[in-house]
Amino acid sequence: FTVKMEEGDASKGTYPFYMLKEIDEQPIVMRRLVKKYTNDRGEVELPKPLLAALKAADRLYIVAAGTSYHAGLVGKGLFEKLAGVPTEVHLASEFGYNQPLLSEKPLFIFLTQSGETADIRQVLVKVKAQGYPTLTITNVLSSTLAREADYQLGLYAGPEIAVASTKAYTAQVAVEALIAQGLGEAKNHREAEAFDVVHQLGLAAAGQQALIDQKDAIHDWATDLFSQSRNAFFIGRGTDYDVSLEAALKLKEISYVQAEGFAAGELKHGTIALIEQDTPVVAFISDPKTAAHTRSNADEIAARGAKVLRIATESQSSEEDQLVVDDIDPMLAPLLMIIPGQLLAYFTSFDRGYDVDRPRNLAKSVTVE
Ligand code: G6P
Repeated sequence: FTVKMEEGDASKGTYPFYMLKEIDEQPIVMRRLVKKYTNDRGEVELPKPLLAALKAADRLYIVAAGTSYHAGLVGKGLFEKLAGVPTEVHLASEFGYNQPLLSEKPLFIFLTQSGETADIRQVLVKVKAQGYPTLTITNVLSSTLAREADYQLGLYAGPEIAVASTKAYTAQVAVEALIAQGLGEAKNHREAEAFDVVHQLGLAAAGQQALIDQKDAIHDWATDLFSQSRNAFFIGRGTDYDVSLEAALKLKEISYVQAEGFAAGELKHGTIALIEQDTPVVAFISDPKTAAHTRSNADEIAARGAKVLRIATESQSSEEDQLVVDDIDPMLAPLLMIIPGQLLAYFTSFDRGYDVDRPRNLAKSVTVE
């Protein structure tokens, strides 16, 4: 595999910041990934030796940091459901020093935009020394982690320049879905046979574009919710919880607002004590199994004075929702739900006059442990 830079990839063009350009590129990346990972018949095709290694594994261990870790959390659901393989997700900086009890035939997946994160590299070195198979999924196929792993797959998101990761996150989720589908089909797993990843990624691309087209409205909500606040909460259940963690990280990284993502059902076990008049809360509602519960959690905090922005998928939406997102399988809802999360963070940072692409104290790739 080689990464071909598309014309204009590394220039900002008319955009004020790379981050906004990279947010806008996400639908193109979804479509590009479908092309890269499927054949003419629309079937997922993985390299044969990798597929054999994945089939032989009794458990997958996803090891990552930052935004990539959040993409890994979404991957767990995809691998377990579509491929029937138990999957654990670990922070690289923790795993390295406290290796959990491993299964008999583990396979390690290193999710990393840059392929250079030192915390991940130390895990790779340790597990390779123990003889376990390793796969690096990265945006930079010439990177250290790609070179040193047994197998490597590309994210094909094009260069990501802004420190806060956006298109690499959605690319990671999409690639995980493609691998899970390919593996599930190879194992004749019923759930994979009933799932159409190509169709779902098409829905993701169209749904992302529809959200990107609503930038101005999302900018207004960013102003309304966050212009005066020093803290914020994001809530959801299932993959909406995974999105909450990532949306909160985006806001922290570039606008320096203290933001936390919470499992909606956990709020009442402590965190709800922090809700005051006008505390900004964003609620993600995409899963029919839990939509009613998350909605009642949102109502509960609104009744305590919080300013709640409700973002729901069409089939789960109600009149009170400010933003309605296209329907998609709940396993892949993060591909859509994160777009308003990214844009809310972008506009908050922009309005405060910060250097959106180069937030204080942060580096794009962290090569120290
Ligand atoms: C740094 C970046 C984050 C990124 C994390 C993991 O902290 O600032 O945006 O998510 O590293 O990077 P990786 O390249 O391994 O995905």
